[in-house]
Amino acid sequence: MQDHNHLPQSSLAHLIDKNIDWAAHVQAKSPDFFNRLAHQQTPEYMWIGCADSRVPANELIGVLPGEVFVHRNVANLIVHSDLNSLSAMQYAVDVLKVKHIIVCGHYGCGGVKSVLDNQRAGLVDNWLRHIHDTKIKFTKLMAKATDHEAQFKRLCELNVLEQVHNACQSTVVQDAWARGQSLTVHSWIYNLADGLIKPLGLEVNSIEGLIAQYEQILLKMRAE
Ligand code: CO
Repeated sequence: MQDHNHLPQSSLAHLIDKNIDWAAHVQAKSPDFFNRLAHQQTPEYMWIGCADSRVPANELIGVLPGEVFVHRNVANLIVHSDLNSLSAMQYAVDVLKVKHIIVCGHYGCGGVKSVLDNQRAGLVDNWLRHIHDTKIKFTKLMAKATDHEAQFKRLCELNVLEQVHNACQSTVVQDAWARGQSLTVHSWIYNLADGLIKPLGLEVNSIEGLIAQYEQILLKMRAE
Protein backbone atom coordinates (compact mmCIF):
# COMPACT_ATOMS: atom_id res chain seq x y z
CA MET A 1 0.00 0.00 0.00
CA GLN A 2 1.22 3.43 -0.87
CA ASP A 3 1.47 5.85 2.01
CA HIS A 4 0.26 9.15 0.67
CA ASN A 5 1.69 11.00 3.65
CA HIS A 6 5.14 10.12 2.39
CA LEU A 7 4.88 10.98 -1.28
CA PRO A 8 7.99 12.76 -2.46
CA GLN A 9 7.75 16.51 -2.80
CA SER A 10 7.44 17.64 -6.42
CA SER A 11 10.80 18.28 -7.98
CA LEU A 12 9.11 21.30 -9.55
CA ALA A 13 8.24 22.76 -6.16
CA HIS A 14 9.37 26.21 -7.30
CA LEU A 15 6.60 26.18 -9.94
CA ILE A 16 3.99 24.92 -7.47
CA ASP A 17 5.04 27.73 -5.12
CA LYS A 18 4.64 30.27 -7.90
CA ASN A 19 1.18 28.89 -8.59
CA ILE A 20 0.21 29.34 -4.93
CA ASP A 21 1.39 32.96 -5.10
CA TRP A 22 -0.47 33.56 -8.34
CA ALA A 23 -3.75 32.09 -7.06
CA ALA A 24 -3.50 34.19 -3.89
CA HIS A 25 -2.78 37.32 -5.93
CA VAL A 26 -5.78 36.76 -8.23
CA GLN A 27 -8.03 35.88 -5.30
CA ALA A 28 -7.00 39.05 -3.45
CA LYS A 29 -7.73 41.20 -6.47
CA SER A 30 -11.01 39.52 -7.34
CA PRO A 31 -12.40 37.29 -4.56
CA ASP A 32 -15.10 35.76 -6.79
CA PHE A 33 -12.77 35.03 -9.73
CA PHE A 34 -12.18 31.29 -9.39
CA ASN A 35 -15.69 30.55 -8.19
CA ARG A 36 -17.09 32.27 -11.28
CA LEU A 37 -14.72 30.55 -13.72
CA ALA A 38 -15.29 27.15 -12.16
CA HIS A 39 -18.93 27.33 -13.16
CA GLN A 40 -18.66 28.49 -16.73
CA GLN A 41 -16.41 29.66 -19.54
CA THR A 42 -17.73 31.99 -22.21
CA PRO A 43 -14.72 33.09 -24.24
CA GLU A 44 -15.30 35.24 -27.30
CA TYR A 45 -12.00 34.28 -28.86
CA MET A 46 -10.25 31.16 -29.96
CA TRP A 47 -6.48 31.38 -30.38
CA ILE A 48 -4.60 29.01 -32.66
CA GLY A 49 -0.91 29.64 -32.20
CA CYS A 50 2.55 28.14 -32.13
CA ALA A 51 3.60 26.03 -29.15
CA ASP A 52 6.74 28.20 -28.90
CA SER A 53 7.30 29.17 -25.25
CA ARG A 54 7.80 32.79 -26.26
CA VAL A 55 4.29 33.17 -27.68
CA PRO A 56 1.84 32.77 -24.76
CA ALA A 57 -1.65 33.61 -25.98
CA ASN A 58 -3.26 35.16 -22.89
CA GLU A 59 -0.32 37.37 -21.98
CA LEU A 60 0.16 38.76 -25.48
CA ILE A 61 -3.37 40.06 -25.76
CA GLY A 62 -3.71 40.92 -22.09
CA VAL A 63 -6.69 38.72 -21.29
CA LEU A 64 -7.48 36.76 -18.15
CA PRO A 65 -8.25 33.05 -17.85
CA GLY A 66 -11.73 32.47 -19.23
CA GLU A 67 -11.43 34.94 -22.10
CA VAL A 68 -9.62 32.98 -24.78
CA PHE A 69 -9.87 29.31 -25.77
CA VAL A 70 -6.43 28.20 -26.85
CA HIS A 71 -5.06 25.57 -29.20
CA ARG A 72 -1.33 25.53 -29.81
CA ASN A 73 0.87 23.21 -31.82
CA VAL A 74 4.24 23.36 -33.53
CA ALA A 75 4.09 26.16 -36.14
CA ASN A 76 0.36 26.90 -35.65
CA LEU A 77 -0.87 24.48 -38.29
CA ILE A 78 -4.47 23.63 -39.13
CA VAL A 79 -4.35 20.40 -41.06
CA HIS A 80 -7.53 19.08 -42.70
CA SER A 81 -7.11 15.62 -41.19
CA ASP A 82 -5.79 16.63 -37.77
CA LEU A 83 -8.54 15.69 -35.31
CA ASN A 84 -6.84 17.60 -32.52
CA SER A 85 -7.06 21.10 -34.00
CA LEU A 86 -10.38 20.34 -35.73
CA SER A 87 -11.93 19.10 -32.49
CA ALA A 88 -10.69 22.15 -30.63
CA MET A 89 -12.20 24.40 -33.32
CA GLN A 90 -15.45 22.45 -33.36
CA TYR A 91 -15.84 22.70 -29.59
CA ALA A 92 -14.97 26.40 -29.62
CA VAL A 93 -17.40 27.23 -32.44
CA ASP A 94 -20.31 24.86 -31.78
CA VAL A 95 -20.34 24.69 -27.99
CA LEU A 96 -18.60 27.81 -26.71
CA LYS A 97 -19.84 29.91 -29.63
CA VAL A 98 -16.66 31.95 -29.96
CA LYS A 99 -17.04 34.89 -32.32
CA HIS A 100 -13.43 35.05 -33.48
CA ILE A 101 -10.77 32.52 -34.41
CA ILE A 102 -7.35 34.12 -34.31
CA VAL A 103 -4.62 32.28 -36.18
CA CYS A 104 -1.41 33.80 -34.85
CA GLY A 105 1.96 32.86 -36.25
CA HIS A 106 5.22 34.48 -35.31
CA TYR A 107 8.39 35.70 -36.95
CA GLY A 108 11.41 33.65 -35.95
CA CYS A 109 9.37 30.42 -35.85
CA GLY A 110 11.72 27.45 -35.47
CA GLY A 111 9.33 25.16 -37.36
CA VAL A 112 9.23 27.49 -40.34
CA LYS A 113 13.00 27.96 -40.22
CA SER A 114 13.74 24.25 -40.30
CA VAL A 115 11.60 23.98 -43.44
CA LEU A 116 13.25 26.99 -45.06
CA ASP A 117 16.72 25.64 -44.34
CA ASN A 118 15.83 21.99 -45.03
CA GLN A 119 16.98 20.94 -41.58
CA ARG A 120 16.02 17.66 -39.95
CA ALA A 121 14.66 17.55 -36.42
CA GLY A 122 12.99 14.13 -36.28
CA LEU A 123 9.36 13.07 -36.21
CA VAL A 124 8.26 16.69 -36.24
CA ASP A 125 9.54 16.98 -39.83
CA ASN A 126 6.48 15.03 -40.95
CA TRP A 127 4.22 17.58 -39.30
CA LEU A 128 6.22 20.45 -40.79
CA ARG A 129 5.84 18.89 -44.23
CA HIS A 130 2.72 21.05 -44.50
CA ILE A 131 4.94 24.13 -44.49
CA HIS A 132 7.06 22.53 -47.19
CA ASP A 133 3.89 22.33 -49.27
CA THR A 134 3.31 26.05 -48.68
CA LYS A 135 6.89 26.83 -49.65
CA ILE A 136 6.48 24.88 -52.88
CA LYS A 137 3.05 26.39 -53.60
CA PHE A 138 4.57 29.88 -53.41
CA THR A 139 7.96 29.19 -55.01
CA LYS A 140 7.80 32.34 -57.17
CA LEU A 141 6.70 34.57 -54.32
CA MET A 142 9.44 33.15 -52.10
CA ALA A 143 12.01 33.79 -54.82
CA LYS A 144 11.10 37.50 -54.77
CA ALA A 145 12.43 37.75 -51.24
CA THR A 146 16.07 38.52 -51.86
CA ASP A 147 17.81 37.47 -48.66
CA HIS A 148 17.38 34.70 -46.12
CA GLU A 149 15.83 37.01 -43.52
CA ALA A 150 13.20 38.26 -45.97
CA GLN A 151 12.42 34.71 -47.07
CA PHE A 152 12.07 33.61 -43.46
CA LYS A 153 9.62 36.42 -42.73
CA ARG A 154 7.67 35.77 -45.89
CA LEU A 155 7.31 32.05 -45.18
CA CYS A 156 6.13 32.81 -41.63
CA GLU A 157 3.48 35.11 -43.13
CA LEU A 158 2.44 32.70 -45.88
CA ASN A 159 2.13 29.93 -43.31
CA VAL A 160 -0.41 32.03 -41.36
CA LEU A 161 -2.39 32.84 -44.50
CA GLU A 162 -2.51 29.16 -45.47
CA GLN A 163 -3.70 28.14 -42.01
CA VAL A 164 -6.45 30.77 -42.09
CA HIS A 165 -7.41 29.38 -45.47
CA ASN A 166 -7.48 25.87 -44.03
CA ALA A 167 -9.55 26.97 -41.04
CA CYS A 168 -12.08 28.65 -43.33
CA GLN A 169 -12.29 25.54 -45.53
CA SER A 170 -12.95 23.27 -42.55
CA THR A 171 -16.43 21.81 -42.10
CA VAL A 172 -16.53 23.50 -38.69
CA VAL A 173 -16.26 27.04 -40.04
CA GLN A 174 -18.22 26.30 -43.23
CA ASP A 175 -21.14 24.87 -41.23
CA ALA A 176 -21.10 27.82 -38.82
CA TRP A 177 -21.31 30.27 -41.72
CA ALA A 178 -24.01 28.19 -43.44
CA ARG A 179 -26.25 28.43 -40.38
CA GLY A 180 -25.64 32.18 -40.10
CA GLN A 181 -23.43 32.09 -37.01
CA SER A 182 -21.26 35.17 -36.57
CA LEU A 183 -17.66 33.99 -36.87
CA THR A 184 -14.58 35.82 -38.11
CA VAL A 185 -11.21 34.20 -38.77
CA HIS A 186 -8.17 36.46 -38.32
CA SER A 187 -4.60 36.28 -39.60
CA TRP A 188 -2.07 37.67 -37.15
CA ILE A 189 1.68 37.51 -36.81
CA TYR A 190 3.64 38.21 -33.66
CA ASN A 191 7.07 39.78 -33.59
CA LEU A 192 9.33 38.30 -30.91
CA ALA A 193 11.67 41.29 -31.25
CA ASP A 194 9.22 43.94 -30.04
CA GLY A 195 6.28 42.01 -28.61
CA LEU A 196 3.85 43.43 -31.14
CA ILE A 197 1.17 41.68 -33.17
CA LYS A 198 0.57 42.66 -36.79
CA PRO A 199 -2.66 41.71 -38.57
CA LEU A 200 -1.83 40.36 -42.03
CA GLY A 201 -5.05 41.59 -43.60
CA LEU A 202 -6.98 38.36 -44.02
CA GLU A 203 -10.04 38.81 -41.81
CA VAL A 204 -12.77 36.56 -43.06
CA ASN A 205 -16.41 36.08 -42.12
CA SER A 206 -17.75 34.38 -45.26
CA ILE A 207 -16.52 32.04 -47.98
CA GLU A 208 -16.87 34.81 -50.60
CA GLY A 209 -14.77 37.06 -48.37
CA LEU A 210 -12.11 34.37 -48.10
CA ILE A 211 -11.72 33.98 -51.85
CA ALA A 212 -11.63 37.74 -52.52
CA GLN A 213 -9.30 38.68 -49.64
CA TYR A 214 -6.91 35.77 -50.15
CA GLU A 215 -6.43 36.71 -53.82
CA GLN A 216 -6.00 40.37 -52.94
CA ILE A 217 -3.31 39.74 -50.32
CA LEU A 218 -1.35 37.49 -52.65
CA LEU A 219 -1.57 40.09 -55.43
CA LYS A 220 -0.26 42.70 -53.04
CA MET A 221 2.61 40.46 -51.95
CA ARG A 222 3.49 39.74 -55.59
CA ALA A 223 3.52 43.49 -56.35
CA GLU A 224 5.92 44.28 -53.48
CO1 CO B 1 6.91 28.82 -33.84
